[in-house]
Amino acid sequence: MNKVTYDFHSHILPCVDDGAKSVEDSIALIENLVSQGVTDICLTPHFYTSEISTEDFLTKRNESFGLLKSSLPDDLKVNLHLGAEVYITKYLFSSTIDKRICIDGTDYILCEFSYDKNYRENMLNYLENLIYSNSLIPIIAHVERYDWLLKDEKTRKELLSMGVLFQTNTISLCDRKFKKKLLKMIANKEISFLGTDAHSMHRNSPQYFSQAQAVISDKLSSDFLDYIQSASKNIFS
Ligand SMILES: [Fe+2]
Repeated sequence: MNKVTYDFHSHILPCVDDGAKSVEDSIALIENLVSQGVTDICLTPHFYTSEISTEDFLTKRNESFGLLKSSLPDDLKVNLHLGAEVYITKYLFSSTIDKRICIDGTDYILCEFSYDKNYRENMLNYLENLIYSNSLIPIIAHVERYDWLLKDEKTRKELLSMGVLFQTNTISLCDRKFKKKLLKMIANKEISFLGTDAHSMHRNSPQYFSQAQAVISDKLSSDFLDYIQSASKNIFS
């Protein structure tokens, strides 16, 4: 069986958020990831739930995806999965949550919240709402941005036991500020997903993908890379 490697978080869709500015930029980003062995990319543009309706977001996203698909070179072999990085606010819960904003229409929703420690209670309430009232599985995008959560192992354990999952950015694994902590979380199997969060060749560059993989396999072991990739595979199997 061929090896499957996922970039779980990216802003590669063209002209839909602050990510890729053109189809050419999108293709360059995809080619870069594929050259590093990535086989599957989750396209997760920002969805700011307080600023745009779900319908309008989906229309914009689908137009962008159509443009990208029609421009992809035939010899560029990659599997693209549609999703969103959903900034969770009360507006998301004002009607039934449309699963098209989840990863490939599954139950898995990539979530972003205010990073402010004062937002902690709101965040925990929203996570409970997603799980218990909407039967969704929240994945917290770039968990390292929540300074308070990195310091609060007890809450992380509680969230994990509720079914919340964590994603980290490849660039953070190459950053001295986060590396040690993130490796410890990976060693404890707290982190299930790896994503570039690539916006351009310069902002969260896709190049960090193989560097982050090397950090994990050198400092821990390649078994942990397999572990992380298996979480992604489980979603799509
Ligand atoms: Fe992002």
